[in-house]
Amino acid sequence: MTANKTVFIKTYGCQMNVYDSARMSDTLATLGYDETDRIEAADLVVLNTCHIREKAADKVYSELGKIRKLEETTGRDVTVAVAGCVAQAEGEEIIRRAPVVDMVFGPQSYHRLPELLERVKAGERPAAGTGRVPSKARPRAVDTEFPAEDKFDHLPEPVAERVRGRGVTAFLTVQEGCDKFCTFCVVPYTRGAELSRPVERVVAEAEALVAAGVREVTLLGQNVNAYHGVGPDGDAWSLARLVRRLAAVPGLARLRYTTSHPRDMDDALIAAHRDLPELMPYLHLPVQSGSDRVLAAMNRRHGAADYLTLVERIRAARPDIALSGDFIVGFPGETDADFEATLALVRAVGYASCFTFKYSPRPGTPAASESDQVPEPVKTERLARLQALIDEQEAAFLKSRVGLVVPVLFEKAGRDPGQLVGRSPWLQAVHVAAPADLIGGIAAVEILAAGHHSLDGRLAEPAADGAVRLRA
Ligand code: 5AD
Ligand code: SF4
Repeated sequence: MTANKTVFIKTYGCQMNVYDSARMSDTLATLGYDETDRIEAADLVVLNTCHIREKAADKVYSELGKIRKLEETTGRDVTVAVAGCVAQAEGEEIIRRAPVVDMVFGPQSYHRLPELLERVKAGERPAAGTGRVPSKARPRAVDTEFPAEDKFDHLPEPVAERVRGRGVTAFLTVQEGCDKFCTFCVVPYTRGAELSRPVERVVAEAEALVAAGVREVTLLGQNVNAYHGVGPDGDAWSLARLVRRLAAVPGLARLRYTTSHPRDMDDALIAAHRDLPELMPYLHLPVQSGSDRVLAAMNRRHGAADYLTLVERIRAARPDIALSGDFIVGFPGETDADFEATLALVRAVGYASCFTFKYSPRPGTPAASESDQVPEPVKTERLARLQALIDEQEAAFLKSRVGLVVPVLFEKAGRDPGQLVGRSPWLQAVHVAAPADLIGGIAAVEILAAGHHSLDGRLAEPAADGAVRLRA
């Protein structure tokens, strides 16, 4: 093999993209590409994009503009790939708008990367330093189909060394796509119909991750709790069953999953939160709005009271569970009273953290063509009020952790010498003075102070029986 080439991958959007980028990196490694964090040095640049809101999509074009300038000033010829959800949604249009782009492929096609690269390489390339040939003369590869084959079957196995390099926590995609068709959301169009990976594949990937040193796995899916992958017995397994199976993988200390739809939170999954110590007490359960009218217009197919009842049942099963959510303000037709209902729901739930968004009309989705769009200043004002309430709740949650002794999974060195950063059961970063050999280990930590989004603590003595206890 000749000297290695380098790839720079920039990831936008959700954790599913983070996972996909890692798998693209693994695929490119088999072709001799090393990952670099310096875009100026890269032979290949991959932008793994997000289409969920307008701002996310705009960022891609601004980055492509920067790459064009970089090529002009350095005279280098870089192969540029746009992957992910903007690629899926806009296809060839991207090349028309940004001729610097050589390859466009959607989230379902990245296993075809080697073939796409070949297609681009097969044509005439300008010699280094001569700048670009006119755009039409350059070969391009566009792949935005939903292929019949399953990309997961065509990806290389994760290599232990590469997995370890990414740390002791890992994402594992178990489900993709969405059949729910919320009226604001592009996901059913960009990621396609719901698809669940078979149980045995997921278990094998989890075992490989653990063998490489991973201690915590977050199962990913756009609608992860709608998981229904085929099990070894030929039956469709629910997420609850999958989680129970994974909790039995030796060495896998912690499990999480995200993101969930309230309608798919079944009794078995709630019971798993009650029964499995490996399943961390944290749940991202987006409700989007607290107004029944808006929820109906969003096609969420449940009301605010259903959500509150569900939260009660989850908390009855796992009293220390921390909840997070997503909210959209300024959905078409949202009145002041609807927005007040959202604030009331947030107050009733008490979240540990939340993501809040202004409604962003997405082309091709039903809500985008509604006539009663909410004016931008109203959205801005509502977002600020909601965010202030969420910030208050997050601060209260963090403060309520002070004085507890909690199990922390240590992930990496901290900013200060002698300090490590770990993760609490509720997902916050915890800064602790601790020896470096604790990385990958779980130790009892007494929480001393609450930061902005994180906690500070010190190593604590575990109880005589070895158990780590929450303060009574
Ligand atoms: N506008 C604003 N926010 C949106 N989300 C999805 N689509 C839109 C949109 N068109 C938010 C939802 C979802 C999160 C991932 O992004 O809150 O849960
Ligand atoms: Fe989008 Fe709704 Fe599907 Fe979530 S459930 S991915 S918000 S369509």
